[in-house]
Amino acid sequence: MAMLPLCLILLTNLLHFLSAQQTNGYVSVGASLTATPNASSWLSSSGEFAFGFQQIQGNDNFLLSIWYDKIPDKTIVWYPKDGHTVPSGSKVELTGGTGLVLTDPEGKQIWTSGSISNIASGFMNDTGNFVIIGSDSRNIWESFNHPTDTMLPTQVMARGGVISSKMSKTNFSAGKFQLRFQLDGNFVLYTLDIISGSTGNPNYNTGTFNVSSSTNSGYQYIFNATGYMYILKGNGEKYELTPRDSLPSGDYYHRATLDYDGVFAQYYYPKNSDGNQRWEVVWSEPENICKIDGGGACGLNNVCSLEDNRPICECPQGFSLLDSNVPNGDCKPDFAPSCDEDYREEQFDFIELNNIDWPQHDYVHMDPSNEESCKTSCLKDCFCAVAIYRDSQCWRKQIPLSNGRKDSSVIVKAFLKFSNGNHSLQRPEFSREDKNRRSLILLGSALLSTSVFVIIFLTSVICIGFFRVYKKRSLNPYPSSKAVEATLPRFTYQELVKATDGFKVELGKGAFGAVYKGVIGTKMVAVKKLHSLIQDVQKEFKIEVNTIARTNHKNLVQLLGYCDEGEQRLLIYEYMSNGTLAGFLFEDTRPSWKQRSNVAIGIAKGLAYLHEECSTQIIHCDIKPQNILLDEHCDAKIADFGLAKILMLNQSRTNTGIRGTKGYVAPEWFRNTLVSVKVDVYSFGVLLLEIVSCRKSVVFESDNEDMEVLTDFAWDCYQKGLLDTFVENDSEALDDYKKLTRFVMVGLWCVQENPSLRPTMRKVIQMLEGGLEVAEPPCPFPYSLTSFKSFNECG
Ligand SMILES: *[C@@H]1O[C@H](CO)[C@@H](O)[C@H](O)[C@H]1NC(C)=O
Ligand SMILES: *[C@@H]1O[C@H](CO)[C@@H](O)[C@H](O)[C@H]1NC(C)=O
Ligand SMILES: *[C@@H]1O[C@H](CO)[C@@H](O)[C@H](O)[C@H]1NC(C)=O
Ligand SMILES: *[C@@H]1O[C@H](CO)[C@@H](O)[C@H](O)[C@H]1NC(C)=O
Repeated sequence: MAMLPLCLILLTNLLHFLSAQQTNGYVSVGASLTATPNASSWLSSSGEFAFGFQQIQGNDNFLLSIWYDKIPDKTIVWYPKDGHTVPSGSKVELTGGTGLVLTDPEGKQIWTSGSISNIASGFMNDTGNFVIIGSDSRNIWESFNHPTDTMLPTQVMARGGVISSKMSKTNFSAGKFQLRFQLDGNFVLYTLDIISGSTGNPNYNTGTFNVSSSTNSGYQYIFNATGYMYILKGNGEKYELTPRDSLPSGDYYHRATLDYDGVFAQYYYPKNSDGNQRWEVVWSEPENICKIDGGGACGLNNVCSLEDNRPICECPQGFSLLDSNVPNGDCKPDFAPSCDEDYREEQFDFIELNNIDWPQHDYVHMDPSNEESCKTSCLKDCFCAVAIYRDSQCWRKQIPLSNGRKDSSVIVKAFLKFSNGNHSLQRPEFSREDKNRRSLILLGSALLSTSVFVIIFLTSVICIGFFRVYKKRSLNPYPSSKAVEATLPRFTYQELVKATDGFKVELGKGAFGAVYKGVIGTKMVAVKKLHSLIQDVQKEFKIEVNTIARTNHKNLVQLLGYCDEGEQRLLIYEYMSNGTLAGFLFEDTRPSWKQRSNVAIGIAKGLAYLHEECSTQIIHCDIKPQNILLDEHCDAKIADFGLAKILMLNQSRTNTGIRGTKGYVAPEWFRNTLVSVKVDVYSFGVLLLEIVSCRKSVVFESDNEDMEVLTDFAWDCYQKGLLDTFVENDSEALDDYKKLTRFVMVGLWCVQENPSLRPTMRKVIQMLEGGLEVAEPPCPFPYSLTSFKSFNECG
């Protein structure tokens, strides 16, 4: 009989356990939550934070997350990194063996906190940190150590930590903005390139790194319990992020979130509110993301303006959103000027946009100019899509336009070319309200459109120098891949004979053919006549030309058009008024150190783009001063990229297979090893040493044996600390000794015989710009056999 009360006690305990798996923030092993509209959650002891499933706005799916449970909008502060949403009926369980396990209704595992064992319990802390406690009472896993887009008071980030913005308000996949607390101690906001994942220049950084001493570089990023954020340096100093005394006194929630618009903001919210409150901003960076080149707040052709320190993106008149769900995405032109043979200026007119500028990627700059001549010159030029008029100067631009910004404090006019009549499309004029309505209507259809189309389209928009939508096809909002192929203007041979006045003025001769000066419309061009090709290369020619056309970077010579007629294959490029880098470096007067270092960084950026940022990776294979051109501002532009593939493809069967030019060629060309982008890094290293020293890579006639091979000489001078000899006592370079040393060291890293030791071009840029410390380079040729060495300096 004594058994009964005992059983009852056990039973009530069991019932209690089943009904409330959680008390005082603790969660027992075996407890689970199911995703349903009114699902329960695991609360912290104060009830301020909850862990569980939250239904996503405008969506039937759920997100496993942690949120402020007492705030009406249940602001989310954490979710698993990939931001996957799950359907109703999905389950999360705290298991004894693998911690938190998220499964879909079929039982398939979607996410887990990681394989960990001997778990005692889970704990939803009042700080917003969900902790898994081991049987030894230590914390095995913490949501604070896996932040997604938000940081909370008492949370600390070590070097190497990253948080990512979400994609949009309701899409929790990782977006294009990142906050990195770098290994060097710098705290940096970046915009990622969607395709390559690489970063450009920082949108904001604290500069808490120190190249020469690590003790005063950043050590921890701390959000303290009072609500102040700062970088704690190695020497105990604080670099304050939250301005001193900026927080209101009283009981407030605090958080800092890298929002989907690219702004990292710290917010507060009164704890005991009547429900009519909202999150207020105390501090945010960057100050004006619209003004940052490459900030990427708005997509291509889109225009950014600032409202309350936040970017608002709006397609300009004549453009509409590529994906109506993504207002900060790319805009597509409703009609784009084309360079058809029947281009006539009478067919076009302008839409005038005030205070709007796209300050990058102009290909013609007229100074001085007036409004009328600015417009006329754009009308006459079939390549011109937009003319910008400001301060009596005129810039002509092609589509896609990037970094568009609206700023009423600047007096600037943008003239957007559009086809005037004989056109089935009407001139579009949407106000923002119209667009919102349209968005709703389009939402359904956009969801139905296949992502493949979107990807093809996006890719093409991003890398294409020209955007041509054929008149016939312009009613189709999603051009087929065929349309993408046809984006580059094609010219007949006769037109080019005319444009070059019968190939009268030769600008130069290269491995691939001669280059002639020409004029198309009013635009000066360089026409490259390629050596005749073997017939079966024909198909590759088209593919490669389109690959080249899809590149668009300020350090690459822009391909404007091509001709493919029988045996005749010609490429039309923008004309570069300042000739080649070879002329710049080795002739007449020595250019200044500042100019030289700018040129070096420009080339590095162009190469990094070819290697990492364009949709198709391009290995140049023939980097040398003759292939680098300088525009009117002496900015470097890489020429002849993409050609190695067309022209050498077949020759490699017949000759030794060595591409490129002697002296710049990476050693692996002579071996039977795989050729990668690292061959370009090698050539860049040689080029960098040439730019630094104004000496040629190989000098044959010299009496001085030591100076024959530049890479040897550079290593020798570097080792002996004789950089003054290396730069021939260039006083400007010597005054900038730190940078000079850095450049030489980077050069020596790039020419390492072992390709895997050479840095990527991305790293090269960071090292050249001083954002990344350069380690001591080892001897570049530890096992070099021959030709490259003329004396045994490494012995
Ligand atoms: C969820 O809760 C609300 C109000 O608390 C109630 O009106 C609704 O019927 C519930 N839905 C389900 C599916 O239980
Ligand atoms: C909860 O957070 C507080 C404040 O940071 C801390 O002192 C406590 O140890 C935490 N509890 C657990 C179980 O981690
Ligand atoms: C979020 O965006 C990504 C990338 O565009 C897409 O693959 C994913 O399906 C989106 N998720 C939701 C829930 O819409
Ligand atoms: C948080 O940091 C601020 C600013 O550095 C400081 O004034 C405050 O005392 C700190 N609070 C705590 C709890 O350490």
